[in-house]
Amino acid sequence: MFDQLVGYHGQFRLLRHRRTARKAWVFALLLVFTTAVYAQDITQLEKIGPIVSFTRSEKAVVLNCADKSQVQVSVLAADLIRIRTSFAKPLPAKDHSWAIARTNWATPRWTLTEDQTSILITTDELEVVIRRSPLLIQFRDARTHSLINADEQPMAYDAKGLLKEMMFDSKAGTFVAAAKRLGFAEHFYGLGEKAARLDKRRSSFVNWNSDTPGYLEGRDPIYQTIPFYTGLQNGIAYGIFFDNSYRSYFDFGKSSQQRVWFGAEGGELNYYFFFGPALKKILGRYADLTGHMPLPPLWALGNQQSRWSYYPDTMVEEVVSEYRRRDLPLDVLHLDIDYMQGYRVFTWDRERFPNPKALNEKLARQGVKLVAIVDPGVKHQPVAKSAAQITSVTPELESQQQRYYVYEAGLEKNYFQRRQNGDLFVPRVWPGESVFVDYTLPAAREWWGNLHRAYTDYGVAGIWTDMNEPADFIDQTGKNQLDVVSYDEGEKSTHAKNRNTFALLMARATYEGLERLRPNHRPYVITRAGYAGIQRYSTMWTGDTNSTWEALQLNIPMFTTLGMSGEPFVGSDVGGFIGRGNGELLVRAYQVSFLAPFCRNHKVIDGYDNEPWRFGAYYESIIRKYLKLRYQLLPFLYTTLEEAHRTGVPLFRPLVLNYPDDPNTHNLDDQFMIGDDLLVAPVVKPDVTRRLVYLPKGVWYDYWTSKKYQGGTMIFVEAPLEIVPMFVRGGAIIPTGPELKFVGEKPIDPLTFNIYPDDKGAASLTLYEDDGISPAYKQDGFRRTTISARRIGALYDVTVAAPAGKYQPGTRRFAFIMKSGLRVGRAVTVADDGSPRTIRVN
Ligand code: GLC
Repeated sequence: MFDQLVGYHGQFRLLRHRRTARKAWVFALLLVFTTAVYAQDITQLEKIGPIVSFTRSEKAVVLNCADKSQVQVSVLAADLIRIRTSFAKPLPAKDHSWAIARTNWATPRWTLTEDQTSILITTDELEVVIRRSPLLIQFRDARTHSLINADEQPMAYDAKGLLKEMMFDSKAGTFVAAAKRLGFAEHFYGLGEKAARLDKRRSSFVNWNSDTPGYLEGRDPIYQTIPFYTGLQNGIAYGIFFDNSYRSYFDFGKSSQQRVWFGAEGGELNYYFFFGPALKKILGRYADLTGHMPLPPLWALGNQQSRWSYYPDTMVEEVVSEYRRRDLPLDVLHLDIDYMQGYRVFTWDRERFPNPKALNEKLARQGVKLVAIVDPGVKHQPVAKSAAQITSVTPELESQQQRYYVYEAGLEKNYFQRRQNGDLFVPRVWPGESVFVDYTLPAAREWWGNLHRAYTDYGVAGIWTDMNEPADFIDQTGKNQLDVVSYDEGEKSTHAKNRNTFALLMARATYEGLERLRPNHRPYVITRAGYAGIQRYSTMWTGDTNSTWEALQLNIPMFTTLGMSGEPFVGSDVGGFIGRGNGELLVRAYQVSFLAPFCRNHKVIDGYDNEPWRFGAYYESIIRKYLKLRYQLLPFLYTTLEEAHRTGVPLFRPLVLNYPDDPNTHNLDDQFMIGDDLLVAPVVKPDVTRRLVYLPKGVWYDYWTSKKYQGGTMIFVEAPLEIVPMFVRGGAIIPTGPELKFVGEKPIDPLTFNIYPDDKGAASLTLYEDDGISPAYKQDGFRRTTISARRIGALYDVTVAAPAGKYQPGTRRFAFIMKSGLRVGRAVTVADDGSPRTIRVN
């Protein structure tokens, strides 16, 4: 077991000390993948036959083709069409996806017309033009009839097995692919977690969840699979979600100047087409289809600290005291794998953590919550012959030397994955030989979820699910797992189909378990791997990054891309996971992450310490400033997070999402926005203290000086280490609260509205609030307050509308400050009594 551990971070050491070797190795690997992608010439595949007849039902049209293929075109909404194809055989009756949250769409009105050459489906928003021979599909804007997206060749499949040789898993199934015309000015966003820049144009990618410590830009695939992207051309956007969990490929005009294609090594050619034209609308529909992110507890927006691993309990306490002594805010501390007995999940090492409940209570008094890591690898531990029965009702606290209660129960219930020949599948992970649960079994998911009482009973507040690609030290590519079978709704399919959804189902089991165990608390789950739909159950972080400037530069495009892929709650190990950082890097890393939803400093076991104070008082003081600012901005961050929950539009955004018509934003990936109102342009290079910032059209205010700018241009700004350039959109009201040591330390009183008027002297905000912890927000346990300001001569009238919702925030004051140019007004403070009113502010 220990060999594996040493082997694993031995790997890290090697990475650090032999940089050149690493680069060469990664390069070689990239070459292999790139060649593989290029080699798939999808023009050689068998094309679907022409349409010979069709049938129409209330919700769909089924096309029957000359080669016995069938295509189902379903109208789910006026802007959402599903294409489902079965090659050379009828569509199967079974139609199931782990990603889909909603199947009961109220069919919108639509019409069907036909002529000699085509069949035309028209909704209020879309026209789907289906040519009969060859079968080609076009999507047009129903209002303008202009083309949005068109097949470049008919849908195709590998009837003759031409691609078998180069398939990762030749037994996976039949390669299926769709090709679309590449627009001359088309840009592509999404595809989830990719170590790549924002605009995916002229690049290609593979989806196959993989444990890739120390990944560099260009490494592909990495941990997650989100086969969803949006295309944007001339301000018109559409989306495609290729819901296929097999190893999949996306090429956005890399191997050809004309073609975008996507395909997979098996499964159905099954995709959803979304029409905008607004990007934000597509993200909303994608969330309707695959699930809206529920709100996590408000404290999840607090600052978090981790380390592989803080132990024993006294060290955990020391880290927390250090945070408090240094006046650094902190909400969460993470327990990495060493809290367990020999990496046995759902156990506590009693020497290191003799009394987890007392520890949690002590930390709770300081406002700190514990999150514990849970890996999928359950130690493979047959019961020792001499073992006595464990009768304890708290087996997690007992010694597991003789028998391990989780392994024993899982084996007895037959919940562990097996190979095709019936043998238990025994990968090697932290505990050495291990087994994985078949999370496609509903009963196994329930059992796994319930096991989390081993944490919640002691006050652990959240669960960090890791290594869920699933990682396997025997072979990280997944080759060792190809014949592993999962129940999969009775299909008994192999890893080829189930690998990419493993983490989704593990996170689901965890989330649903936490919901049952603590029904009055919102679950907080963090994951490394995932598939589309993961946002329903978990927040995520970008895995094992390096402590380098290159890795930091990837933060912004990775976070914004994840946001554009339906995953709003993202972040990365602040300052990088592997290797040794320095004060400058750590400060600049916080200047990116202090506004990311997930803000957690974390470090590998043998990496140089990375807590905010490790590089001296100067750097620490800057980090303190930004962490405090994060807490002051919580009313703003939470309002924007709720928007992400409700609308699918992420908090951490690329500028293109707010300004899709502005070509200057289309590949801008060293700036980001929080919501609609705050533009942030961090420095992500060493020794740099000035930078260019692009401000889109409109009025902008420097956050630090309130200096007013007219946008639509690049400006050159000073950005010494103490400063991250930030600009507020004219027309915005940014709500802020007092400095806090942790969420809930004291009431948000006064709640300050910082008002930044637009050209006409107007600004507005709808503030969102709730109790921050319970699921009551899903009914009417929230409060929305609309504040609007308008200029009256030299003064401003600020109107507070009657709040909506049942949540009562308690007595407090509202303060209003005008920030119109260099003259910052005086704050006007009033009691918030919940009544509508108008206040005069200068
Ligand atoms: C994986 C995780 C990392 C964690 C380590 C030990 O490498 O990505 O965050 O510290 O495992 O659990």
